[in-house]
Amino acid sequence: MKIAILPGDGIGPEIIDEAVKVLHALELPFEMESADVGGTAYANHGHPLPESTLALAKAADAVLFGAVGDWKYDKLERHLRPEQAILGLRKSLQLFANLRPAICHPQLTHASSLKPELVSGLDILIIRELTGDIYFGQPRGRRTAVDGHFPGADEAFDTMRYSRPEIERIAHVAFQAARKRGERSGVKKVTSVDKANVLETFQFWRDVVTEVHAQYPDVELDHMYVDNAAMQLVKAPKKLDVVVTGNMFGDILSDEAAMLTGSIGMLPSASLDASNKGLYEPSHGSAPDIAGKGIANPLATILSAAMMLRYTLRQADAADRIESAVSAVLESGLRTTDIASAGMRTVGTREMGDAVVAAIRTKTTTT
Ligand code: IPM
Ligand code: MN
Repeated sequence: MKIAILPGDGIGPEIIDEAVKVLHALELPFEMESADVGGTAYANHGHPLPESTLALAKAADAVLFGAVGDWKYDKLERHLRPEQAILGLRKSLQLFANLRPAICHPQLTHASSLKPELVSGLDILIIRELTGDIYFGQPRGRRTAVDGHFPGADEAFDTMRYSRPEIERIAHVAFQAARKRGERSGVKKVTSVDKANVLETFQFWRDVVTEVHAQYPDVELDHMYVDNAAMQLVKAPKKLDVVVTGNMFGDILSDEAAMLTGSIGMLPSASLDASNKGLYEPSHGSAPDIAGKGIANPLATILSAAMMLRYTLRQADAADRIESAVSAVLESGLRTTDIASAGMRTVGTREMGDAVVAAIRTKTTTT
């Protein structure tokens, strides 16, 4: 099992170190190889996604990714900015299905800015289409307007578009995920989020999702406009189960969903291709403001490694071991600053990683 390790920028290297430590503690035959990505790669090789990094990612069974981005690079031309690395990896590896679970750990209910009764037991899965939509649609660019209210003025434009196969494949991922989750929760429900009342692209989205649904009569499907979905997420998030949506709406709603759980520092994500090969990364960014201070929460990255074991490397037992170790650590009262609360012990990045490793070792020797 070959894993490409791409730490990236900001807190990326610190949190990745902890996840790698946890992977080693499992004592499984992993081969890990690291490479530069993002601003770090630009600084060292002149490009945010060097050929050698892309080749490593393609050759590996799975990619574990930290985070990219730093203010230092904001003035670079767009194609050289750190963010292009993750966009390029998603597109080149055809990672069209982005799974972003928003789970409220029982020990952290009070870290949420919402009332505990709204979020306790929350367990939703946002499925974001990741290689289409206005993020990648052509044409895009700047030009001089020839029509509209201001002909002759300079303007910018992007193109929102989806093809039938792109919508079909992400719809299948959503219905299958709902089915799988239903085995343990009893609920099999997909909410497809669109803007069909205004956008042609998303009327088409709604039509195609509805057609695919005919193959999943056991799964309930409803449709919701994105503005309403944004509202429902803070009003009654537990009424949602699997949410499937396009690239841009998914970007926005997944951040909102993450905050329901109290800390974005806790949430993993998976980006998968058609064969379940994938890139795994925390849902949070590179947080350059706290980089190098040793205070970042490594749990989202550690839990991303668990998702990697479950979805791509087919090591469900190992994934369970990591997840129960994280629960045990939270139960024992350790908290990084982002999830700190009264009566709990605040620890740094490394101590948190060490605690997860220790919990894995304890379980291994007692079972
Ligand atoms: C995310 C990020 C990226 C996105 C950026 C860094 C390009 O916000 O993974 O959600 O917009 O997809
Ligand atoms: Mn985002």
